[in-house]
Amino acid sequence: MEQVLIAKTREFVRQQLQYAEGGHDWWHIVRVHNLALELAEGTPANMLVVELAALLHDIADSKFHQGDEEKGPAMARSFLLDQQLDDKTIDAVDYIIRHMSFKNSFEFNAKKPIEFQIVEDADRLDALGAIGIARAFSYGGHKMRPFYDPEIPPANFTQGKAYKNSQSPTINHFYEKLLLLKDMMNTEKAKKMAAGRHQFMLRYLDQFYSEWEGQD
Ligand code: ADP
Ligand code: NI
Repeated sequence: MEQVLIAKTREFVRQQLQYAEGGHDWWHIVRVHNLALELAEGTPANMLVVELAALLHDIADSKFHQGDEEKGPAMARSFLLDQQLDDKTIDAVDYIIRHMSFKNSFEFNAKKPIEFQIVEDADRLDALGAIGIARAFSYGGHKMRPFYDPEIPPANFTQGKAYKNSQSPTINHFYEKLLLLKDMMNTEKAKKMAAGRHQFMLRYLDQFYSEWEGQD
């Protein structure tokens, strides 16, 4: 029964993200789903909640829907209701996808259930390392942003709204978000994986600046 629901959800999400930007497409979902399964191993997490939240978490990202924060959670809920899923599981999934995005993390202080911690870590791991770099430049390109401008220093955001409205060059995004993530991981396993991916991004930035200056 659960396997049928997971399979149907995969199909729904894949269809929905058919024309998505490369950093927020179906393959982002596949990676986050796999990472979430890996992080959940050996924990008491409810796997149905973990899998559904991982699959549905970017079904309609507000960045691509005129800032509408309600659209994604509403679509996920209506899909799950159509599948006759029980209210308790729907509420647990809804809570995760509603609160886990980076911009919301500025204002979110509540205790996170284990399923929330796992899916959030999985999503954040996919923002790091070689894949994270590819995703950032894919999004920056999609938005027609310069990839670097030495005259625009990175900002230090303290509010989700300011972060969300930022139009800065893509290299700045490393300092405004990506390099902050390793200290924001919830689970021990994710902290370890984040450390390696973080180091790789630092190496990448070193090389980037050397080449920019012609000093390599
Ligand atoms: P969340 O989906 O957790 O709220 P974001 O939407 O801020 O997080 O970012 C998701 C991913 O989109 C980032 O990890 C990055 O790859 C890309 N992204 C978001 N904002 C930017 C930006 N300003 N420049 C480059 N990439 C970005
Ligand atoms: Ni995501």
